[in-house]
Amino acid sequence: MLEGINVLLGVTGGIAIYKACDIVSGLKKVNANVDVIMTESATKMIRPGTFQALSQNAVITDTFETPRYWNIEHVSLAQKAHVLLVAPATANIIGKVANGIADDMLSTTIMASTAKVVFAPAMNTKMYENRIVQQNIKKLISLGYRFIEPASGRLACGDVGTGKLADVDKILEFVIDTVKPNRDFVGIKILVTAGPTRESIDPVRFISNHSTGKMGYSIADAASARGAEVILISGPTNLLPPVGVKLIKINTALEMYDMVMNNFKEQNVIIKSAAVADYRPETISARKIKKRGDNLNLTLVRNPDILSELGKLKENRILVGFAAESDNIIKNAKNKILKKNLDFIVANDITEEGAGFGTDTNIVTIIDRNNKIEKIEKTDKMDIAHLILDKVKQITEHRV
Ligand SMILES: Cc1cc2nc3c(=O)[nH]c(=O)nc-3n(C[C@H](O)[C@H](O)[C@H](O)COP(=O)(O)O)c2cc1C
Repeated sequence: MLEGINVLLGVTGGIAIYKACDIVSGLKKVNANVDVIMTESATKMIRPGTFQALSQNAVITDTFETPRYWNIEHVSLAQKAHVLLVAPATANIIGKVANGIADDMLSTTIMASTAKVVFAPAMNTKMYENRIVQQNIKKLISLGYRFIEPASGRLACGDVGTGKLADVDKILEFVIDTVKPNRDFVGIKILVTAGPTRESIDPVRFISNHSTGKMGYSIADAASARGAEVILISGPTNLLPPVGVKLIKINTALEMYDMVMNNFKEQNVIIKSAAVADYRPETISARKIKKRGDNLNLTLVRNPDILSELGKLKENRILVGFAAESDNIIKNAKNKILKKNLDFIVANDITEEGAGFGTDTNIVTIIDRNNKIEKIEKTDKMDIAHLILDKVKQITEHRV
């Protein structure tokens, strides 16, 4: 079931460590490749050889050991992993990661990884309820780390309460759900636009906006993982192109217009999350504009409204728009759906903390043609990307 999936298991020094052996066995049974990193405390409780035998891979215990491979181990393991599961997760590792500490192989690898990180905490009830531990967990959740809640019951120390490592079956199910690709977009072609545009004033200056492209790149990434054939048309960003996605880079709104128009016909779904400039300077000075006088007047002219154009041509395609607003969000979004012939719109209030440009999270409201309004509280942009795709899927299924 998890063929080709690399699970990196971080084992820390909690008394529930013996259950980590069952986790490795369970993951091997579903054909995952499992690498194990043990903290020093963990090695005092169970010898690495046990995990080595169960995982059929060398167990890593120390950052400064002679590397077995030529690449730097914490970086190569971090890159290779599709999911990094820390089970059992001590109060200590949760605290270290929440505070940016990378002082051993496991914490360094977590820091170097862009994979999904899942913690399965296990500790004494008083430790688990400690406000510092709870604050650390909240902080990590807000940063996109996932937690499998510990169970309640009689703990190894004799206390009764919350803090028992979650059931091994529950942990396995969580990991499988996290990485098992849902291929419900196979055969569907999706065009996504992302990032800002740059409208040149002269050879050195331009007008742009704060869009980083994260939302659009997350949508392209999620759609590709779900099996869609994805074209991503992107303004300038610092992001790496998602695996398997065809990336077309543009700078200006006019270039974006051309590329969208050249590619939209073959698409089943078009998701326009780019922050395209409404206006551009009427003329671009061939030479750098010199400082003179107190004021400089620029004449701006309207750029084509790509979304409206697509709305006219959309036929059976699903068309999704974005609205970054600071006032009257719902009213403006509803108007935009009608005016631009959209299937639904993803609106966000850019004044809210944790929403809009440059953040890893977003707070959005999805509004459809039937005026159905769904507010999605602050969550990771990747999770929002999947919810947007779920909505696309719902509409497709309704049409059949
Ligand atoms: C026998 C024993 C059992 C422990 N069990 C736990 C536990 O269940 N949860 C926990 O957070 N810490 C537990 N600790 C404390 C951790 O081992 C300690 O905080 C250690 O520094 C954790 O290091 P690590 O996170 O690098 O593995 C236990 C310690 C001992 C000696």
